[in-house]
Amino acid sequence: MFRKSFQVDGVHVRQARFYCSAAAYGCFKINGSPVSQDLLNPGYTHYDKRNLYSVYDVGSLLRQGTNVISAVLGNGFYNEIGKVATWGFESARWRNRARMTCMLRMEMEDGTVREILSDGSWRTAVGPYLVNNIYAGDKYDSRLEKKGWELAGYDDSGWQEAMVVSAPSPLLAAQKMPAIRVSEELGAQGFRSQGDTLFIYDFGKNISGFCKLRIQGNSGTQVGLQHGEIKLPNNRLEVGNIACYYSPMEDKEFQTDTYMLNGELQELSPQFCYHGFQYVEVRTSQPVHLTKESLRAEFFHTALEPVGMFECSDELFNKLSAATHVSYLSNLQSIPTDCPQREKNGWTADAHMSMDLALLNYDGILLYEKWLDDFLDNQNDSGRISGIIPSAQWGYDDWIGPVWDAAMFGIPMTLYYYYGDTRPIEKMWPACVKYLNYLKGRENTEKTVTYGIGDWVYYKTQTPTDYTTTCYYYFDNRLMAEFARLLGKDGTAYEQKAQYLRQLIQCKYFDREKALFSNGSQAAQGVALYLGLVPKEYEQRVADNLSQMIAANGGALDCGMLGSKTILRMLCKYGYADQAFQIANRTEAPSWGNWIKRGLTSLAETWNLSPTFKDASLNHVFLGDIHAWMYQYLAGINYDEAQPGFKHILLQPYFVKGLDWAKGSYRSPMGMVKSEWVRRHGRIVLDVEIPANTSATLSVDGKKQELHSGRHHFVYEKTKNKH
Ligand code: BGC
Repeated sequence: MFRKSFQVDGVHVRQARFYCSAAAYGCFKINGSPVSQDLLNPGYTHYDKRNLYSVYDVGSLLRQGTNVISAVLGNGFYNEIGKVATWGFESARWRNRARMTCMLRMEMEDGTVREILSDGSWRTAVGPYLVNNIYAGDKYDSRLEKKGWELAGYDDSGWQEAMVVSAPSPLLAAQKMPAIRVSEELGAQGFRSQGDTLFIYDFGKNISGFCKLRIQGNSGTQVGLQHGEIKLPNNRLEVGNIACYYSPMEDKEFQTDTYMLNGELQELSPQFCYHGFQYVEVRTSQPVHLTKESLRAEFFHTALEPVGMFECSDELFNKLSAATHVSYLSNLQSIPTDCPQREKNGWTADAHMSMDLALLNYDGILLYEKWLDDFLDNQNDSGRISGIIPSAQWGYDDWIGPVWDAAMFGIPMTLYYYYGDTRPIEKMWPACVKYLNYLKGRENTEKTVTYGIGDWVYYKTQTPTDYTTTCYYYFDNRLMAEFARLLGKDGTAYEQKAQYLRQLIQCKYFDREKALFSNGSQAAQGVALYLGLVPKEYEQRVADNLSQMIAANGGALDCGMLGSKTILRMLCKYGYADQAFQIANRTEAPSWGNWIKRGLTSLAETWNLSPTFKDASLNHVFLGDIHAWMYQYLAGINYDEAQPGFKHILLQPYFVKGLDWAKGSYRSPMGMVKSEWVRRHGRIVLDVEIPANTSATLSVDGKKQELHSGRHHFVYEKTKNKH
């Protein structure tokens, strides 16, 4: 805890701004009022390379006379105490005691400017904040609270002088992306008690955030709130599916906030952690009275603005749509993460695979631009990047590899498609050059690279990873050639490399007789078609084979992450939209619908969920591309690579059998795009809206039609769903 008193006398303040940064987190107040509603701020970075600051308008918080600025600091990923989790944050090269810097800049009515800075004149104490750990939770002893310490008039003579310490990094940069904020407060939907010391709450939805507890108990009563995704039949919490990479800290459990009560009626919530949870088990050391209303859940995440909407006549799809929103948002904590409970890590491929669903639903460019800065900070001297970004040194390993690393090419490319902005590409260019030089050094005698993981979390059939890595090595080079073209650079070498790898893949992994790639798996065909690796004259046959192998498998997918991104898209492209719909609509495992049928409100990490759910995270977004597929293939709203940023729109709705209507809207950088169709008396009625100063090409049944901005209405007698 830090406090600083200062006087404002005589002259009035015309305008006041508060600039602040911390490693890891700072909760700043002026005269007891928070300077903002932002949580866990600033955003997570490689703390020794770059720190972020925020600026707030705080004029209304100041007054004549004595004023107080206060701050409480939290550890986050900057100061991971002890070996709590697997990823080595406890030995991060940046690790140090939490620290902050701030400046209050007041412009006075008489034109003078006054600044209050963080310096050695501040006072500091520890108070009730005993422990905080991003994985384990906060520990807070409310008996140690110092009443009124954030207000004027508090006697801080017993406090120590704040220590002036070095900045964590040489670079203090403005945080341009939206901060983390509460988007929804949830009341419990279920509540059970076992005696008066054990309670379990069900919030009905699997989210990221923390809880607010209203409680009164004997002074010294210890209350533990453990958070998890599974409730056992005996009404106890199960954390086995998420605590697997966690080693208990001394007297601290995974995802558990602990409070010591002070005897008064209290409202308590943690400040420096977040959890992934649907259920909360509350355990107290002495009897207390708690009701269903005593605990509320705060769902929070980086507060991106929604820009998309998709709805259709299929209830399962609407539930999947809701689950995708929850999982995407739960995994936005100033970086895109894999899961909010177990890892909280910025796994590169997880975000890459989710780019379309991300940008169709939310205005994400500032968040991803920030995360690309983290890629720059992450790259080591050899040119390598790690599987998680940021990383404290963990994950620069061969077992992860180029399919994951491809995010550094795919993310700036996708930002360009959606926003028409080349700056992320420009920024990444030197890092991409360096990375491809690194991969060159890793090539085998066939002049490709083969290490790493690929079609991760596959169901039964594994696709060989030497094949998928080579495919993504091709992808990197092809995008690099495109980057060069966009930036006016010479991309010949990348173009040639891409062509070489395409030929190599066709020679080595393509059986022309059977028209099958690699080991003939579903994902192998999906990836080849999606990345454009199939010789033109074989494309339809490969797609036919993909369709047939799924039909022969009882209409079920048998793939992992790469298949989940590519297969439905490719089936639609090559004339099998009805089959894609049937796959998407399945509720038997392996399928998205199976998660929903089994009661999940979020997207799971694997298709293979055991009856108890105990084996995986239930809040991963990387298999969620089906939601983008709904926008792009059912509503039919697509960017045009040749005229990005929705200057020209490709409208290509598939009126699939089994769906009565679908509607999607997307607030593109050029304005609102809408597409909506319904079956009426055996016909299809389609209404579309194209923003001003744009145009669109509508494709239905292979017929293309140019549209100008404005509203358009079409009626189709019959369609074949072929484009
Ligand atoms: C994470 C994934 C990640 C994978 C890669 C898992 O533990 O949760 O989402 O991409 O590891 O190995």
